[in-house]
Amino acid sequence: MKRLRVGVIGAGNVATTAHLPAYAKLDCVDLVAVCDSSRDRVQAAARNFGVPHAYTSWDELIRAGGLDAVSVCVGNKLHAPATLAALEAGIHVLCEKPPALTAQEARTMEEAAERNGVILAYGFHWRFTPEAEYAKAAALRGELGRVYSGRVQALRRRGIPGWGGFTDKAASGGGALMDIGVHMLDLAMHILGWPEPASVSAASYAELGTRAGPGLMGSWDPGRFSVEDSLFGFIRFADGSSLSVDTAYALNMGPKSVMNVELYGSQAGLSLYPLRVYGESGGQLSDLCLPFPGEPRGHAECVEDFARAALSWSPARSTAREGTALMELVDLLYRSAELGQPVEPGRP
Ligand SMILES: NC(=O)c1ccc[n+]([C@@H]2O[C@H](COP(=O)([O-])OP(=O)(O)OC[C@H]3O[C@@H](n4cnc5c(N)ncnc54)[C@H](O)[C@@H]3O)[C@@H](O)[C@H]2O)c1
Repeated sequence: MKRLRVGVIGAGNVATTAHLPAYAKLDCVDLVAVCDSSRDRVQAAARNFGVPHAYTSWDELIRAGGLDAVSVCVGNKLHAPATLAALEAGIHVLCEKPPALTAQEARTMEEAAERNGVILAYGFHWRFTPEAEYAKAAALRGELGRVYSGRVQALRRRGIPGWGGFTDKAASGGGALMDIGVHMLDLAMHILGWPEPASVSAASYAELGTRAGPGLMGSWDPGRFSVEDSLFGFIRFADGSSLSVDTAYALNMGPKSVMNVELYGSQAGLSLYPLRVYGESGGQLSDLCLPFPGEPRGHAECVEDFARAALSWSPARSTAREGTALMELVDLLYRSAELGQPVEPGRP
């Protein structure tokens, strides 16, 4: 059986907790190389996961040759350059979320994958949770009827990341929406089948991130906080359906973080985490409760899906086209928030 020769670009948090352990467990994969600009970090990762080759740049890793596929696990602003370098060398790529800083970058990545005849997938691992798989199948079977509205929530009370470049707009492209909102927005769009957006409005804020205060995910510098700490959006689709998007790193809300998608259909409604289906049965209101375990959250399944797609040259669950479509929505949400008025796709 052919095996996939894999490299990992970036040896930080997501690489060492999700990608490297997931590849290391796959029989169909040889972990060949890893790179990180930090020599200490890359050497530790190579040692811990038994990777024979360690480099301090992705150029060296790619130039050394012999790779079929890479995971891109560096910060957001490096997604496009690292991914493009690999794609142009004919290497399949699983790039971490968000796909890129802008829709234009994501489009360039999509075109490069097409031109080089290789797969580009994104690390939207929530799609692989049993709840998401159930919801997608239920929507496809028509059990929800016509889904005419929905709600995306990615909310933390005080969850501003205290590491990496997450609070720096130049490094990350944005704050809560780019980092956590994209997961739930991607999931909702995946289940809904990517309806065409018609108009988007949003408001964003930086009320809590720009002043000192308690943090539950480390400390940050409020003087250098250049992203939104919360964003509230509303998307109308061309088919008349709609979706609200609420996301926050910090918000004066209840103590429990929320990552959830709710869908409201003509036959039934659905809330993903925990999974509940709300409808009618025998003339009564009925609630269906499905006891899924809650953890793990699909990282290993996402990596395996990509590896199998790359081996068989078949599409992965998350595609380059969808990555571009998602970033088009993100661009519209940010543009509306900046202008303080609704915006439409394709209009300046
Ligand atoms: N899917 C998820 O749930 C999930 C979770 C965490 C992070 N992420 C995404 O993964 C990416 C990385 O996040 P993280 O938390 O692992 O960050 P991190 O800061 O822990 O890791 C990034 C690594 O990239 C290295 N690096 C920086 N510049 C480099 C370069 N030019 N060449 C090679 N290596 C370089 C850094 O030294 C660091 O080790 C981000 O885009 C983030 O959004 C996704």
